[in-house]
Amino acid sequence: MEKVRLFDKTFKQFIPNARIEQAIDEVAARINRDNEGCTDIPVILCVLNGSMMFTSALMKRLKFTCELVSIKLASYAGTSSTGEVKEMMGFTSDITGRRVIVVEDIVDTGNTIVSLVQKLKDHHAREVKICTLLFKPESYDKDVKLDYVGLSIPNAFIVGYGLDYNEVGRNFEDIYVLDTEDTKMKYYVLFGPPGAGKGTQATAMVERYNLHHISTGNLLRKEIAAGTELGLKAKALIEDGRLVPDEVVEGMIESEFKTVKGVKGFLLDGFPRTIAQAEALDAMLARSGEEVTSVVSIMIPDQMIIDRISHRAAIEGRADDANVEIIKNRIETYHAQTEPEIAYYQKSGKYNEVDGVGTIEQVRDRIFALVDQF
Ligand code: AP5
Ligand code: MG
Repeated sequence: MEKVRLFDKTFKQFIPNARIEQAIDEVAARINRDNEGCTDIPVILCVLNGSMMFTSALMKRLKFTCELVSIKLASYAGTSSTGEVKEMMGFTSDITGRRVIVVEDIVDTGNTIVSLVQKLKDHHAREVKICTLLFKPESYDKDVKLDYVGLSIPNAFIVGYGLDYNEVGRNFEDIYVLDTEDTKMKYYVLFGPPGAGKGTQATAMVERYNLHHISTGNLLRKEIAAGTELGLKAKALIEDGRLVPDEVVEGMIESEFKTVKGVKGFLLDGFPRTIAQAEALDAMLARSGEEVTSVVSIMIPDQMIIDRISHRAAIEGRADDANVEIIKNRIETYHAQTEPEIAYYQKSGKYNEVDGVGTIEQVRDRIFALVDQF
């Protein structure tokens, strides 16, 4: 499996099982060397629940007589270490005077190891060695020496091969890492000439991808209806088929980004509409370490624009749909000022075009097939 979903999170494949098995082979070989010819019976201490898979795989490879003892500790809640180590179940056997090899699935901050080593001392273990399948050197800030380390990994949240997220995911034979792409906000630009179907398709997209729809045209029409100062300025330009000044729409977009919460991203319909607006959008997103995810462009021929908008005029009564002259002005404005954005987004590899000719459902399915990939 490439990706797995557990509750609210997506994880992607990180360490395939073959690599895990190889690391266990190496660790087992070292432990076997260190215990060759030993006359005592060392304790293999399985730290439940996480290390049960690793302990099982490791023990199958050990060539000396050993005894399995378990203890159950817990220090995680969700995806971060709580710092506090709780003993859920004590040693299952007496370890007084024994040599103990602690078997951990992962050593992160080292809190568990420190508290465990103290417990082993309190129970008079003769010697303690630490063996861990995974180690996060960036998080570890303790002095306890780790004797056998399978794999060193970066500081990321992982599941699988015994490791869990809220107690699930332990059964995966591969190890998965939290997919940060999944948690990143998406910014889709829905592009296209007037009447291409941007507003129509936006409705289906916001539902499927949990996005917030921002149509600058709708926002401007609301201002006009409310008779605001901004609305009064925009009215004449819109009703002539020309664009309102860049700063006006840029301000609207920025305020939507700031106020809307609880969505996976934004669907920008009718913005950006000039190269200057595209640059302003890039700068706006860059300030918070974000970027346009992708441009979805719906294309239809000019004559179809006129047909569709003339048809809509009777239904919605939009002032800029009122006559063919205004519609032609809008088409002209599109070709002169908006179309150059295609090359702008092609340069960054973000431009994707779907054929807008066909039924609403056909166009929708083309868009879904494209966006499902992001
Ligand atoms: P805006 O409201 O964005 O208008 P537009 O870009 O001209 O696009 P429309 O809303 O007319 O069309 P649409 O692509 O949404 O198509 P729809 O889904 O409705 O902008 C209006 C004005 O505001 C601008 O001219 C400008 O003055 C100003 N403005 C806005 N943003 C600005 C900015 N960033 N900068 C400066 N100024 C800005 O579909 C059209 C019709 O076709 C509907 O009746 C629909 O039912 C039908 N239809 C849709 N798909 C199909 C299909 N596949 N088959 C048959 N019919 C279909
Ligand atoms: Mg629209």
